[in-house]
Amino acid sequence: MIIARTIAEVRKCVAAWKKEGQVVGLVPTMGYLHAGHASLVDRAAAECGKVVVSDFVNPTQFGEGEDLQSYPRDFAHDCALLEAHGCDLVFYPEVSEMYAEDAATYVEILSEMPKQLCGKTRPIHFRGVCTVVSKLFNIVQPDRAYFGQKDAQQLAIIRRMVRDLSYGIEIIACPIVREEDGLAMSSRNTYLNPAERQAALVLSEAVFLGERLTEAGETDAAALLAAMRAHIEEEPLAKIDYVSAVDGVTMMPVSKIEPGVLVAMAVYIGRTRLIDNFTVGGTADDC
Ligand code: PAJ
Repeated sequence: MIIARTIAEVRKCVAAWKKEGQVVGLVPTMGYLHAGHASLVDRAAAECGKVVVSDFVNPTQFGEGEDLQSYPRDFAHDCALLEAHGCDLVFYPEVSEMYAEDAATYVEILSEMPKQLCGKTRPIHFRGVCTVVSKLFNIVQPDRAYFGQKDAQQLAIIRRMVRDLSYGIEIIACPIVREEDGLAMSSRNTYLNPAERQAALVLSEAVFLGERLTEAGETDAAALLAAMRAHIEEEPLAKIDYVSAVDGVTMMPVSKIEPGVLVAMAVYIGRTRLIDNFTVGGTADDC
């Protein structure tokens, strides 16, 4: 596995692969990799001749007072995991390699979409995500890029950006990978102390409750969300940021539960903000 720290090295490798006619897949990550990330790499390795993984804690997507400084990092562990899962090149740049000191160009979707759900409490987050993913697309120029359904709003926003800016990259959505007890895997789970780790189960429990109620025929979004919120509120360590039902493409609120609706939540467990979601009728794999 090649470890590339500069944009020039990545371009050189990918150019050589493209000359050989290889299909190149990209998996963007912020490192501290777990089985959720690994599932994206596995899928990319199964579908692409060459797999590039970026491992970069992107400062532009963190707001003031968020966890940029404390975000967990372990590059040696990441490399071992990536090598075991068939990654060909890991791109591990310094911040200065990605952003000139006076960088002032951003990619931002100017609609209501990034202002919904996580955008309400994280107003600059998706601008930073779109900017860094756009840069990674320009650096790697992959044929396909892999994203997790765990960050469903991020995925919808990337799809919109790719469409609006005519990137010509196929975006592949991968299902949420969970711990055995249901908790969605996340690098941020490492912040949880044992009591919080137990309390964090209310997110997946609320997701499974929502899925059961939907399968049993509940079509009223208000009733569904009320039942999910009530479950979360039983946990003293949990504080709801949002529990919402939105159109799976536009991210705008809906009142009727039907196929394609995204039911998503963000919940603080102590000081750690966790997210989880499900899509009614399952998720369309890729488009
Ligand atoms: P990060 O949180 O490291 O996640 C990288 C990718 O792994 C994302 O597409 C995310 O949805 C996926 N992922 C994380 N946990 C998952 C799980 N439990 N199951 C399935 N997929 C999971 O998302 C980011 O980084 C950044 O915003 C990034 C896109 C890299 C831009 O900086």
